[in-house]
Amino acid sequence: MFTRVCKAETVPEGGMRLVIADNHLIVLAWPDNAEEMKAFQGVCPHSNTPLNEAEFDGTIITCPLHYWTWDLNSGDPVEPQECPLAQYPVKVEDGVVYIDTEGVTPLFAAP
Ligand code: FES
Repeated sequence: MFTRVCKAETVPEGGMRLVIADNHLIVLAWPDNAEEMKAFQGVCPHSNTPLNEAEFDGTIITCPLHYWTWDLNSGDPVEPQECPLAQYPVKVEDGVVYIDTEGVTPLFAAP
């Protein structure tokens, strides 16, 4: 079931923000040149740290703690190639962003 999270205008192209849907902390991003917004787990797969202080350059998100990086077009890990970010379905209707959390759980690197 899709849950309303925010207005689409709060995420410009090349930007990101954290949102909450159904108690899931979620990174909502609009990567440069992407046709649509993307949503991924909002906690780092390394040690479950919230990614609210993460840097986003329009393509790559960097966790501030140990600088692991992911491509927010896909959620694939860049460096190290340890663990992807879980992705959530997103839709935008009438300027409002909705995310479906059903069946999605954050992924974590093996300790
Ligand atoms: S907690 Fe994110 S890289 Fe270590």
